[in-house]
Amino acid sequence: MKLQDNAILITGGTSGIGLEMARRLKALGNEVIIVGRSSERLDELARQHQFKALAADLAEPGAVARLAEQVERQFPEINVLINCAGVQYNHYESRFGDKPERVAEVAHEITVNLTAPIELTFRIFHLLSRKTGESAVVNVSSGLALSPKKSAPVYCATKAGLHNFSKALRFQYEGSRVKVFELLPPMVDTPMSAGKKEPMMTVGEVVDEFLEGFEKDNFEIKVGRVKLLDTAQRIAPRATDKMMKDR
Ligand SMILES: NC(=O)c1ccc[n+]([C@@H]2O[C@H](COP(=O)([O-])OP(=O)(O)OC[C@H]3O[C@@H](n4cnc5c(N)ncnc54)[C@H](OP(=O)(O)O)[C@@H]3O)[C@@H](O)[C@H]2O)c1
Repeated sequence: MKLQDNAILITGGTSGIGLEMARRLKALGNEVIIVGRSSERLDELARQHQFKALAADLAEPGAVARLAEQVERQFPEINVLINCAGVQYNHYESRFGDKPERVAEVAHEITVNLTAPIELTFRIFHLLSRKTGESAVVNVSSGLALSPKKSAPVYCATKAGLHNFSKALRFQYEGSRVKVFELLPPMVDTPMSAGKKEPMMTVGEVVDEFLEGFEKDNFEIKVGRVKLLDTAQRIAPRATDKMMKDR
């Protein structure tokens, strides 16, 4: 996939991995449209980095449909969609279901991490597929899509779901102009992972590997330790699950 002259919509482009992708892709000569919830934050980033911006809370009913309409009206030229927005709740660390008052977070996590990216891809796919050049969908999942940890069962389920969605969509569009990528990062130093004790990659290192894989049409971009995890999971799945589950 070419690294310049694309028009790229990035959900989660206001922070962490998504913001670094937005910055780097803009610097390479792409039009970049970021999506996030706070208009103030979007305005500030748009001014600072010459991004375009659209506000949407992807967990709100009807929000994805409204976002897709805005994209079609204002940015019909887009040829790349990066689904990067995500949330992770860790309150299941005691036992799943121990905090019934927080049940709404289950649906929220599934909506933001899985339903919204699938629906957004569905709603703007016609914009991507009618282009004459290359176009792409990039879904940001996680190494946890391959091997889950017990403290975040819902998060791991959404990422495994996004992993299989990406694969099936890639099978469907094989050989067409629409390329389906998945980015599988390990633990990365962002607001999402604040306070975690594990070794972390920087967003810069993750985006270096993303850009390399994107340019080479490596459709499953396993970042850093996720390459090793993938191999370990194939060779010794039970031992790998055991090693990963308490992280
Ligand atoms: N950090 C890690 O260790 C790690 C590892 C593997 C995979 N990932 C994945 O990488 C992606 C980016 O994560 P990150 O670590 O960069 O997280 P982050 O810094 O916390 O950023 C999360 C992004 O998601 C957006 N977002 C969250 N809820 C939203 C909602 N309801 N509507 C619209 N946007 C929403 C946020 O935008 P606003 O707050 O501005 O609305 C923000 O831009 C996620 O999909 C995550 O699961 C992260």
